[in-house]
Amino acid sequence: MNWELSKKLTARLQKIAAQVTIGHRVADIGTDHGYIPVYLLKNKISPFVIAGDINERPLKCAEDNIAFNNLSHCIETRLGNGLSILKPKEVDTIIIAGMGGLLISELLNSSKEIVQNLDTLILQPMQAQSELREYLVGNGFIIEKDILVREGRHIYEIIVAKPEERIKAIDPIYYEVGLYIYNNPRPLAMEFIDRKIKTTREIIRNIGENVSGPSAEKLKEMKKKLKKLEEVYLCLQR
Ligand SMILES: C[S@@+](CC[C@H](N)C(=O)[O-])C[C@H]1O[C@@H](n2cnc3c(N)ncnc32)[C@H](O)[C@@H]1O
Repeated sequence: MNWELSKKLTARLQKIAAQVTIGHRVADIGTDHGYIPVYLLKNKISPFVIAGDINERPLKCAEDNIAFNNLSHCIETRLGNGLSILKPKEVDTIIIAGMGGLLISELLNSSKEIVQNLDTLILQPMQAQSELREYLVGNGFIIEKDILVREGRHIYEIIVAKPEERIKAIDPIYYEVGLYIYNNPRPLAMEFIDRKIKTTREIIRNIGENVSGPSAEKLKEMKKKLKKLEEVYLCLQR
């Protein structure tokens, strides 16, 4: 096995990895070789990844790859069925790639508590793609993206979905900076956020510290906004 492959993913795996939001903790369910977890860590996309598989042999393969890349401290391997290896809110994104659409929907259906607390699901079904889409739409998910990727003679389908509640529970800062800020070229997005940080600091300075009533409320609101903007900036910096 050539572990160097994990640095340069195939087109399909590359496209799947590209859907991960920077800063998200990820679980790769059915990881097999563990290429995606290694890639996400090496490229500073995720701070922490759980690599799961139901079979010992592929999990051992992933463990060897992770150890070869000195990443055992930030990629945890877990043996088990689907999402049952996870605790609620342990990760923000799950990837399930290279399995059938029916199996993927069964795995989602049998771990509802885990799934409802996720931010993003990145799914790459090999068959029964339409059944999986139908399952998602009928069970409280919003399909955000449908992506095609060519690899050799195959055209693979990648589905990016979100639990509906997560859409409603969006952090208000993303109304300010845009829901897809992380999709923009990094320097442009950082400059954009930096300008907002400077403007907010200016407003805080102008309000001053010893205020009461509506001004105190405004100060609190602006400080909260500044903290959120700084968090977005940090994520862009990673
Ligand atoms: C074809 S490989 C796909 C590997 C990788 N995700 C990819 O897309 O290249 C499928 C992997 O899923 C694992 N798998 C199958 N059923 C599973 C389940 N119910 N829970 C977790 N892993 C499973 C298999 O052991 C195998 O390693």
